[in-house]
Amino acid sequence: MTSTEIVQTIRTLLPPGHPWGQQIIHLPCVDSTNTYAKALAQRGAPSGTVVLADTQSGGRGRLGRSFFSPAEKGLYLSVILRPNCAAQQLMHLTCAAGVAAAEAMAEAAGIEIGLKWTNDLVVGKQKLGGILTELGTNPATHATEFAIVGIGINCSHTQADLPPELRAMATSLALVGGKSDRLALAAALIDRLSHMDARLLTDRVRLIEEFAARCITVGQDIRIVRGDTVRDAHAYGIGADGSLLVSFADGTRDAVTSGEVSIRGMYGYL
Ligand code: BTN
Repeated sequence: MTSTEIVQTIRTLLPPGHPWGQQIIHLPCVDSTNTYAKALAQRGAPSGTVVLADTQSGGRGRLGRSFFSPAEKGLYLSVILRPNCAAQQLMHLTCAAGVAAAEAMAEAAGIEIGLKWTNDLVVGKQKLGGILTELGTNPATHATEFAIVGIGINCSHTQADLPPELRAMATSLALVGGKSDRLALAAALIDRLSHMDARLLTDRVRLIEEFAARCITVGQDIRIVRGDTVRDAHAYGIGADGSLLVSFADGTRDAVTSGEVSIRGMYGYL
């Protein structure tokens, strides 16, 4: 399919007249849809601009990691948002995007996923995809100029398509028995992200509740790694800003907003 045909197909799968339907850009190959979307945002592209690619040569994940993006096997999609608030008011954005991704997968793939705090999309103990949110802020006022929400979902990967080092921890919609039509999933995701965007600043409490209901990290023994510091803890809830509420063996508590959080029994952490 050509890029024009792909965009046209996604448009026909969206509700008629969808506001984001006229702002979809498809690229056969790009380094990273997030990087591309960020450059567009800096040049003034409007809220709701969607960039998706068949493959990424430098797909990026959280904490400087790469995101494996083989051609036509996964959905690699970023959207530009322009929320009218300070950056500190957007701590819950990744959580809200996770809820949108979960809804889209239930609708288009028939799969119920879990959300591993804060940005992993999981089925059982395996990773199906991830979210990378990035903000552009005005350095003087700290106002948000744009937010990029990037979502990668493994769709039709077989075990053989996954590199050996990812085989135990990663999965795909096809491998878990879901429908893996990338364009149907793209349309569902665009629609759900637009609803999420409409609720982002006005329905924060319910968005966090919806995230908490799907968050598999809550109730688990975890390990938190921040730079050189490693601490074991128990996750007992999600804070009002999307932070992970944890308690330590000495009885103290904390709200985690950054760093790597591993769950015992997942991704090789025993
Ligand atoms: C993670 O697992 O840490 C997040 C992965 C996010 C991957 C998506 S794919 C589309 C967008 N473009 C990128 O370079 N990253 C995100």
